Amino acid sequence: MKFNIVTLFPDYFSLTLKQSLLGKAIERQLFDIEIINLRDYATDKHRTVDDTPFGGGGGMVLKVEPLDRCLKALGYYHSDHRKAGNDNERIILTSAAGKKFDQPRAIRYSLCERLTIICGHYLGVDERLRHLYDLDEVSIGDYVLSGGEPAALVIVDAVARLIPGTMGNFETALEDSYMDNILGAPCYTKPAEYEGFEVPPELVAGNHKEIKLFRRREALRKCLANRPDLITEADLSIEEEAELKRSTDKIKKAEKEKDNNG
Ligand code: ADE
Repeated sequence: MKFNIVTLFPDYFSLTLKQSLLGKAIERQLFDIEIINLRDYATDKHRTVDDTPFGGGGGMVLKVEPLDRCLKALGYYHSDHRKAGNDNERIILTSAAGKKFDQPRAIRYSLCERLTIICGHYLGVDERLRHLYDLDEVSIGDYVLSGGEPAALVIVDAVARLIPGTMGNFETALEDSYMDNILGAPCYTKPAEYEGFEVPPELVAGNHKEIKLFRRREALRKCLANRPDLITEADLSIEEEAELKRSTDKIKKAEKEKDNNG
């Protein structure tokens, strides 16, 4: 797997990509990351990559020519001359206005042979880049960043850890929060007791069936509290549906009592 990151700030990535799991995986050549300075594809002496928007208003727009030159140099074709058989690669443009980057998308990207991430900046890129190339415009969340670099790092991290060999234990990745729309269960390590708080007995007793049930129940509880929007899409057993209804009724009752008292 090869990642290309097209950026105005190449130094932003140098330290981060040497750290932690990603750094080790790159060292072990499980995948490769190339950082590309977009200014290298400008042609004037100031290495200009942006300009003011047609129609006025504040801000700057990333120019289409340097981006087009850069993508061509990476071997991409304009969408109307695209060669067959390159479904294994995607070009991603980071943008607050993009489609949601979520775990299913991370999994789809992890199956690609090559991902090129263009770090969006300023008001965005000249719309004609979208006409020329088949781009995935992707947002990492409902907030606005000062530039696309943090978003690119998030995408690389979420995708790279799914590449076989990157994680110490691939099963851990399959049990991830969001894999089945249920957030992760709480976890504990030694000591078994701290400041009067004990590790739940189900986890200490060593009965695998009980441990699995406990983790699932607690994950559902957490999901209901933190992300009730996800739970509606989760695959639940009849017992879990019933338990969920009981918990939801309890929460509603508590809220009603609070309203009546306040
Ligand atoms: N650029 C600015 N905000 C962004 C976001 N939320 N996701 C991706 N790219 C961005």
